[in-house]
Amino acid sequence: MSVLEVSDLEVYYETESAPAQAVDGVSFSIEEGENLGIVGESGCGKTTLAKAIIGILPDEGYVNRGSIEFDGRDLTEMSEAERRRYKWEEISMIAQSAMNALDPVYTIHEQIVEAIETHRPGTGRTESNEIVAEMFDLVGLDPERADDYPHQFSGGMRQRAMIAMALALEPSLVLADEPTTALDVIMQDQILKRIGEIQSDINSSMMVITHDVSVVAETCDRVIVMYAGKIAEEGPVEEIFGNPYHPYTIGLKRAFPNIRQSDQDLLSIAGYPPELTDPPSGCRFAERCPIATDECRTVEPEAQQQGDLRTYCHYADEIDDGFRSRADDPETWEETEAARSTRSAAEVNN
Ligand SMILES: Nc1ncnc2c1ncn2[C@@H]1O[C@H](COP(=O)(O)OP(=O)(O)OP(=O)(O)O)[C@@H](O)[C@H]1O
Ligand SMILES: [Mg+2]
Repeated sequence: MSVLEVSDLEVYYETESAPAQAVDGVSFSIEEGENLGIVGESGCGKTTLAKAIIGILPDEGYVNRGSIEFDGRDLTEMSEAERRRYKWEEISMIAQSAMNALDPVYTIHEQIVEAIETHRPGTGRTESNEIVAEMFDLVGLDPERADDYPHQFSGGMRQRAMIAMALALEPSLVLADEPTTALDVIMQDQILKRIGEIQSDINSSMMVITHDVSVVAETCDRVIVMYAGKIAEEGPVEEIFGNPYHPYTIGLKRAFPNIRQSDQDLLSIAGYPPELTDPPSGCRFAERCPIATDECRTVEPEAQQQGDLRTYCHYADEIDDGFRSRADDPETWEETEAARSTRSAAEVNN
């Protein structure tokens, strides 16, 4: 059964010019106990999506359209007071910037206890204290340090405190936004294992936002690749990384360090994602895509099903091993419009 069902979601930010279409027509669901990864370049709307789901968009951010059904109810239709009950208790978030998410004037202990007591009014102080100590222990923090203030923690410790707080109320959905970026590789590994254990204990689902493909490979069942506010491709983790159909996923795969082929040169995709206040009308990736045609530049692609993959590309069914092997060649990415415009900008500057 789906825990979360997002349909045709648009999340915009007011800006001085036009609204920034940070999340634009996004639909997906997360099943009970499932881990869904969200990957994509910086600025493609991952954090915005998570904030819209838990309901912590800043004042200038708003849901323009679409629905977010959690447990069968549309969160976008609820009053603030009603939504507050879901926060932390049912849906929690491990925020990308742990410093901003923790309140600087309360100790970590006070913050977790306050969350527990607000959402579970019957809980006595002794029990809350026990939960805090247990959670600290689980994320590898010394329970004695619980009385510290956030600024007394290192970045990695704050991130672990965030994780402790996000899991303390055993929520059914955890939104983890770059949950382990401030941690070293050994700690990262331990924490991911611990999160996995707690999760299977409480049967919660997780949405994992990350730049780190090894984190997705290790923790997720399914992956969504986002590009400029939209879903480019979605499917089981082995297929997204093994045999993708979207040229962006194929390019992205080459841009990530590969665990198995670490000697391979990393390739970047020339150019940048488009301005979200004025996105192109066709496929948002067209300018950087080696196989884009006029159709791509004018008509927005619908989803195409390729086996278990959902791919938003006009030419998904024509992507074959020919393109996949060409994609390994740096020249393939040097002939895109974005690469040409980057080159001519460099000429102007010289
Ligand atoms: N408060 C805001 N006002 C206006 N635009 C915003 C605001 N917050 C984010 N944006 C814009 O929305 C888009 C998506 O931002 P978001 O933070 O969701 O990206 P992201 O995918 O999480 O990136 P990263 O990987 O760098 O964390 C970006 O273009 C960003 O500039
Ligand atoms: Mg982000």
